[in-house]
Amino acid sequence: MSEGAVKKEERRKFQAIKGTRDLLPPETALWNRVEQAAHEVFATFGFGEIRVPIFEPTELFARSIGLDTDVVAKEMFTFMDPPDALELNQRTIEWIVQNVPPQKVSDNLTTYGLGEAQFEALVEMANRWEESERVSLRPEATASVCRAYIESGMQQLPQPVKLYYMGPMFRRERPQKGRYRQFYQIGAEVLGGSDAPAIDAEVIEMVMTFFDRLELQGVQLDINSIGCRECRPKYVELLRAELLKVKDKLGPDSQRRIETNPLRVLDSKLESEQGIIATLPRIADHLCEACTTHYAAVKHQLEMRGVFFRENWRLVRGLDYYMRTTFEITAQGLGSQNAVCGGGRYDGLVELLGGPPTKGIGFAIGEDRLILSLQESGKSPAQQGRDVYIAWMGERAHATAIRAAKDLRKAGFSVELPPVEQKFGKALGQADKLGAKHALILGDNEVSEGLWTLKTLADGSQAKYTEPDLLDHLRKIL
Ligand code: HAM
Repeated sequence: MSEGAVKKEERRKFQAIKGTRDLLPPETALWNRVEQAAHEVFATFGFGEIRVPIFEPTELFARSIGLDTDVVAKEMFTFMDPPDALELNQRTIEWIVQNVPPQKVSDNLTTYGLGEAQFEALVEMANRWEESERVSLRPEATASVCRAYIESGMQQLPQPVKLYYMGPMFRRERPQKGRYRQFYQIGAEVLGGSDAPAIDAEVIEMVMTFFDRLELQGVQLDINSIGCRECRPKYVELLRAELLKVKDKLGPDSQRRIETNPLRVLDSKLESEQGIIATLPRIADHLCEACTTHYAAVKHQLEMRGVFFRENWRLVRGLDYYMRTTFEITAQGLGSQNAVCGGGRYDGLVELLGGPPTKGIGFAIGEDRLILSLQESGKSPAQQGRDVYIAWMGERAHATAIRAAKDLRKAGFSVELPPVEQKFGKALGQADKLGAKHALILGDNEVSEGLWTLKTLADGSQAKYTEPDLLDHLRKIL
């Protein structure tokens, strides 16, 4: 590297990777408040917290979410483990694996123009690559929760098992407002037991209670039933047949989906396709009897709980594991990415992952979007202030200030203790900038008299207190 290049490299300013961002104070106070509310509300519904790994075998997501979904086909962050399997270009390795039977390694060296040691190193790499595993950063957590249910033998526990989680998820999407490559979800899953419609309704009631508690504005719940293994394939075929008749009028994405997943055409936001979609057959008219009954009961159960909903026959969701009840919740202030929560029933997913036949239903809230919506409606906390700023001058006062800070913090007050001596005027200015409510002034006089001056910054008033009186006074007013 030339000297110039080194210098340039040294000067490089690092930036957060596209689609990721830092969450900073005071905004993080709102994140904490939201998460705290989730812990509290979900606990009142009997849910316990589960923490699952950030990465899992790629196969887990591929099998659960579906190979043809956008999430699995395009959006996962995937790598090989162990990583040195990637030291060689993957295609070279594939080529060697396919073209050179291991027993031929030593005869064929000249053909491939490689020295013996080099060739053996290649084959060794090839073997490692074959044994290595593809792992992905989790794009969602339902698959992981199901894996954990099976792995920990949770079917032995009283059913259903009610779990919730929160944390970062990763999808390589095109970043925009409300859409990130690292985003955060708060989700819940109910696994095992029956598929009683009251379970569907209670899960939805829980998320609505949570949004209510946060005073989220413009909340709109859409629900649908997408049928089961019996009735959905017949509807999908009917839909495919109808779509083929109008194929020429559809855009390229929808044309492709006629083959891969006709249901997703119903998701289309393309203006030119809306008229056509309105004329397509609706799943509600093609559900089997059991699904029709289940859907009607879910709606009744929601009404009994006072949960308002809108039926939306086009709500199909983008992941393959769903059946019967699906739902989505939108909120205000989010523009085009306005789905703040999505969920649904996924009976059969645990079985698909090698577990016993198990019912399942759940949801995930997009926490980034939830926060955005709360901020848009003016719910963000102001700069986190301090209760007390300690303005001290002199060595003796410093020692007293350190002790005072310790006592005040122990009593639960938030305290700023400047690390170096400042003139009182400057200290008070600093206290103001930090939004402190009070300044505790400690100089030589205060220390020798044992009377400390407390200044209220809002009105400039001040009074003297002994140390115990000061604590009592602050406890009363803060
Ligand atoms: P999902 O609809 O893919 O469902 O995601 C749920 C929510 O996560 C979305 O409604 C949205 O608020 C948020 N979200 C998704 N992608 C992004 C992104 N790139 N940036 C910001 N927010 C995003 C699931 O993930 C299912 N696992 C939900 C579920 C749980 N179904 C049953 N149980």
